[in-house]
Amino acid sequence: MNFDAINSAQLPALLCAMPKTELHIHIEGSLEPELIFALAKRNQVRLNYATVEELRSAYAFTDLQSFLDIYYAGASVLQHPQDFYDMAWAYFLRAKADNVVHAEIFFDPQTHTERKVSMRTVVTGLHHACTDAKEKLGISSSLILCFLRHLSEESAFETLEQAIPFKDMFIGVGLDSSERGHPPEKFERVFKRAHQLGLKAVAHAGEEGPPAYIWSALDVLKAERIDHGVQAIHDEVLMQRLAMERVPLTVCPLSNLKLCVFPNLKDHNLAQMLSQGLCVMINSDDPAYFGGYMNENFLQTFAALNLNASHAYQLACNSFEAAFVDEAQKLAWRVQLDACFQQHGA
Ligand code: HPA
Ligand code: ZN
Repeated sequence: MNFDAINSAQLPALLCAMPKTELHIHIEGSLEPELIFALAKRNQVRLNYATVEELRSAYAFTDLQSFLDIYYAGASVLQHPQDFYDMAWAYFLRAKADNVVHAEIFFDPQTHTERKVSMRTVVTGLHHACTDAKEKLGISSSLILCFLRHLSEESAFETLEQAIPFKDMFIGVGLDSSERGHPPEKFERVFKRAHQLGLKAVAHAGEEGPPAYIWSALDVLKAERIDHGVQAIHDEVLMQRLAMERVPLTVCPLSNLKLCVFPNLKDHNLAQMLSQGLCVMINSDDPAYFGGYMNENFLQTFAALNLNASHAYQLACNSFEAAFVDEAQKLAWRVQLDACFQQHGA
């Protein structure tokens, strides 16, 4: 592949066109203000904001917690399977426009079951959208059930048990919400049970929390991927391990910018991690809240960090490598990727 043949003026079109997977997207974080208002009306839920503009102008965050408060409030309009379907379908249309070929989608059942919305409502609504995305848009996907780490171990156990009847509709478990003060160890026994059930495991770690949380996500929870993981940069031994074991880090640049993990996109360590041989890739996290879906993340990150076509190729390959799919599928995406690069002059 001749990456040098692609100049910086040609790069944006290639970034948008290239096939990619998305492995770090919270479906509740794809809920756009317009849909929040439409669902609030449909379900007769009262919002604390008078207009879409007023809600959107509240999206000025100082850290993870300041975002989570508003994110959980937004999710309160979701009540029926159709609401979950509509939210996920809107995401899939955005993903299609960005040439996402496959998505592994987080959902937060406790945000809903705490409001007396059933696990069945949540999972069946989302799963139906996943089925339609494959059939109508050609996008494959799977669901990953996340435990809210600010809640108790007991609540996580209860959530996992409630989900067992729907075990064929999701592939794994994850861990999200407020990181600091809620180390992975808190959920050791729940993840053990999830492994016994044959589920995959991922965990948010090292977004705001220390490198020690990444170590314990790997060693205690047996997580196969780390979500975010950008704080690994402060631990040289950990960096070597992540590189050697090719542990995927699902990095989310615009999220990190909006939650002030880095003061400026130019300060993001994605390029440094890539050059040290880590399996990092770009994801959108909560695109309705953080100013962009996949391609917007690619475009802004590449501009800020001066990345080139060779970086784009590596990031796309990493996104295939890290997906929970078989090798034949990964190879098929690689063939698609090569064809795309060749069409763009490489
Ligand atoms: N971090 C932790 N929890 C979350 C996030 C995140 O970036 N997005 C939605 N829940
Ligand atoms: Zn996340």
